[in-house]
Amino acid sequence: MFYDTAKNDHGLPRDPFKAIVSPRPIGWITSMSAKGEINLAPYSFFNAVSDTPPIVLFSSEGPKDSLVFVEETKEFVCNLATWDLRDQMNQTSAPYPRGTNELEAAGLTAAPCRLVKPPRVAEAPCALECKWLQTVRLHDVEGRITERYVVFGQVVGVYIDDRFIRDGKLDTAAMRPIARAGYHDYFVGTPETKFSLTRPKGGGAD
Ligand SMILES: Cc1cc2nc3c(=O)[nH]c(=O)nc-3n(C[C@H](O)[C@H](O)[C@H](O)COP(=O)(O)O)c2cc1C
Repeated sequence: MFYDTAKNDHGLPRDPFKAIVSPRPIGWITSMSAKGEINLAPYSFFNAVSDTPPIVLFSSEGPKDSLVFVEETKEFVCNLATWDLRDQMNQTSAPYPRGTNELEAAGLTAAPCRLVKPPRVAEAPCALECKWLQTVRLHDVEGRITERYVVFGQVVGVYIDDRFIRDGKLDTAAMRPIARAGYHDYFVGTPETKFSLTRPKGGGAD
């Protein structure tokens, strides 16, 4: 099959786009307003886009609380969403009124960060402490401005639960990170689904 996205003539009950660009990592974003209110929400339009300097992005479909808070205080934290935390992660995506502390609402614990003011989720095995770099409001191919805002941040501090460092490496599979697929689907990283490839001679480490 083929479909034209301007017509969305795929003939399926639901748009398959997000089931193709999948599984997507989840940035579980903590942020703080200028008044000191705490926010926590998951974003799967999220990824790392550079390692030196380490830069991540997330995209907000409309001016959601995370975007508004990050714009106010210029800092955020990306917590790792894992299999054990899947229900809490999902709960923090509920449309709570601005100012609700989703961390508390989901029964999670706030732990202080070292280099930024928003807290990290204590139960998450990793957290990236970020300083805001820029927000890009996207245009489409017709040049029309959209309600899609991409937030870039530089990772200035990294928290890792030492239990997951084994033989000098971070054991990603042991943390069982979850990733978003299409519809209501997710994937989970496990030792069974991990595989390794060495790059062709002359290639880098990634
Ligand atoms: C796994 C998952 C991924 C999500 N990814 C996004 C995303 O990339 N962009 C977005 O705008 N909303 C996304 N959402 C929806 C937001 O989490 C939801 O709108 C939330 O209420 C936003 O919270 P905030 O207003 O406190 O920032 C996602 C929800 C889930 C469960």
